[in-house]
Amino acid sequence: MLKIKEIDVFYGPIKAIDKVSLYLDHGETVAIIGANGAGKTTLLKAISGLLKPRSGEIMFQGKNIKNLRADEIVKMGIVMVPEGRKVFPHLTVQENLDLGAYLISEKKLKARLMDLVLSTFPRLKERLKQMAGTLSGGEQQMLAMGRALMSAPRLLLLDEPSMGLSPIVTREIFGLIAKIKKENEISIILVEQNAHMALEVSQRAYVLENGRLFLEGMSKDMKNHPKIIEAYLGV
Ligand SMILES: Nc1ncnc2c1ncn2[C@@H]1O[C@H](COP(=O)(O)OP(=O)(O)OP(=O)(O)O)[C@@H](O)[C@H]1O
Ligand SMILES: [Mg+2]
Repeated sequence: MLKIKEIDVFYGPIKAIDKVSLYLDHGETVAIIGANGAGKTTLLKAISGLLKPRSGEIMFQGKNIKNLRADEIVKMGIVMVPEGRKVFPHLTVQENLDLGAYLISEKKLKARLMDLVLSTFPRLKERLKQMAGTLSGGEQQMLAMGRALMSAPRLLLLDEPSMGLSPIVTREIFGLIAKIKKENEISIILVEQNAHMALEVSQRAYVLENGRLFLEGMSKDMKNHPKIIEAYLGV
């Protein structure tokens, strides 16, 4: 479904992503693990068209999307939930969700997506008229994911959905990620520093270090890899 071939991404003279290749099959959840500054967000921004790789290729469903604009990439079904839960604080939950569906003109489809989001996140249903800025951190993360789902994505890019959340809420969010994936045939790239959780919900994982791919494999094998245990699972 997605195939990235040896991309390089620069910020001015600084290379943040160095010859990274990865792939994602239809319906898969793939985790990207790495420390602060490893290049995880940069990689997601390159996929979603917010940053242009200097070289390499990004193929999505057989089409090279490397030179498409970010809005064209959204239209193809690639939607990112950015780091730090960027909801519109002065709009209600309902208005935030409506904005997620701005590309969808068909009323029936919109209603179906709203049902999907509210059944996945019942807590949002109770708070449709509440200002998004007054939601708790976990609820804002649910809203950010719900808004992305309102655009009927094929590929969801999640940037650190557990950031700033308690272990209990993190567990809840990851449970919801698993549910969304199972029920909706959406493929997911999940960026996380919480390697433990990320390896639980993903089939495969890639480890980024200083902009380079350092390791890749099946998530269940990664959990037992000495290097992963030492650097990311912290025992
Ligand atoms: N706009 C920018 N201009 C210059 N350098 C940048 C810019 N954005 C990111 N960088 C640098 O690129 C590198 C990778 O950053 P990136 O945000 O992708 O890391 P990350 O893996 O997402 O880290 P974190 O886990 O802290 O979110 C870092 O060294 C960062 O300082
Ligand atoms: Mg980041």
